[in-house]
Amino acid sequence: MSILKATAAACANIAFIKYWGQRDVELNLPANSSLSMNLDRLTTVTTVEFSPDYDDDVVILDGREERGEARQRIVAHLDRVRAMAGLRAGARVISKNSFPTGVGLASSASGFAALSLAASRAAGLELSQRELSILARFGSGSACRSIPGGFSEWTAGTCSEESFARQIAPPEHWELRDVIAIVSRAHKRVGSTEGHALAPTSHLYQARVASVAGRLAQAKAALLEKDLATLGRIIEEDAISMHAVMMTSRPPIYYWLPGSIKLIHEVQNWRAEGLEVYFTFDAGPNIHLICQAADQAEVERRLRDIEEVLEVIVSGPGPGARVIEP
Ligand code: DP6
Repeated sequence: MSILKATAAACANIAFIKYWGQRDVELNLPANSSLSMNLDRLTTVTTVEFSPDYDDDVVILDGREERGEARQRIVAHLDRVRAMAGLRAGARVISKNSFPTGVGLASSASGFAALSLAASRAAGLELSQRELSILARFGSGSACRSIPGGFSEWTAGTCSEESFARQIAPPEHWELRDVIAIVSRAHKRVGSTEGHALAPTSHLYQARVASVAGRLAQAKAALLEKDLATLGRIIEEDAISMHAVMMTSRPPIYYWLPGSIKLIHEVQNWRAEGLEVYFTFDAGPNIHLICQAADQAEVERRLRDIEEVLEVIVSGPGPGARVIEP
C-alpha cells in the first residue's frame, strides 16, 4: 500500500465583513456572505497520515495530545474525508501553529483549512479549490476563507455546493497590515460555535443580516479600489454591528475588556491626528488594527506605549492553503 501521508499549510484570516449566525447549522451555512484577508504571520502546518495499522485517530496540536472536544471535532472532519475517499484507516494528525497558542487568537480557520488539504491529499483525493473550501467550511465556517490566497469572499449560498469562498484579489493586490494588539491571553468563555447559535436571540440580529449585503458590496469595491478611508469605515461598522448582536443575545456575550474599549478610543484619536488606522474584532477582546504598510511602524510604536497591550503581532496579506509535502 502506498504512503497515505501529506503536509499542508494555511493562514488564519481576519474578516472585514463578519460571519455571525447561521442559516443552516448541519451544513454550516452562514446567515450572510463575508469578506476577509489571509494573515501571513498566523499559519498552521498540519501533517496527516492514514494507515490501516492505526486503530484509532491520534491528534497532536503544538506537541500536546488532544482529547475531548477538540479531538472530536477533528475526528469528525477526518470522517468526512474518509467517507469521500472510501477509506477505512486510522489517522495520525500533527499540527503546529506559527503563532503563540493561548493568546486568544483563533486557530480554527488556519487549522481546518490545513487539515482539509492535508487529509484530502493523504487520502488520495485531488479536490478543486471550491471543493476544498466547501470541505473546510464543514470543519469551521471561517476556514473556507483560508483556502484561497489574499482577499476572499465567502458567498453564503442557499445549499452546500454554493457556499464557498473565492479569491477577489491576490495577496500582492494591496500592502495592508493587520496589527493585532493582544489585551488578554485568557481562553474565551463563549466559543464561536455557541455564539452563532445565540445570534438569532438578539433583537438586532435580523437588522444586521438585512444590512450586511450593502456593506459587503461597498467594502468589496473599496478593497478593489484600495480606498482605505471607505473600507476602514465599513470594517468598523460591521465589527460593531456584530458585537452589538453579541451583547444583546440572550444570554448576552461581552467579549470586550477595558483594554479593548481603551484602544477603540485611541484609534479614533490617532485618526483625528492624521494616522489612517481602523479597528475590528473577532469573537474576543483582542483588537485588530488595519492600516497601510507605510503606517505599520507608527501604529506598533503607539501600541507599545499602552499598558494594557501585552503583545503585538503584525500580518500582511497571506497566501492560500498549500501542500508542502510530499
Ligand atoms: C467572529 O468560523 O470560528 O471570527 O464555524 O463555529 O467554527 P465555527 O465558527 P467560526 O466563526 C467566526 C466568527 C468570527 C467572524 C468571522 O471570522 O467571520
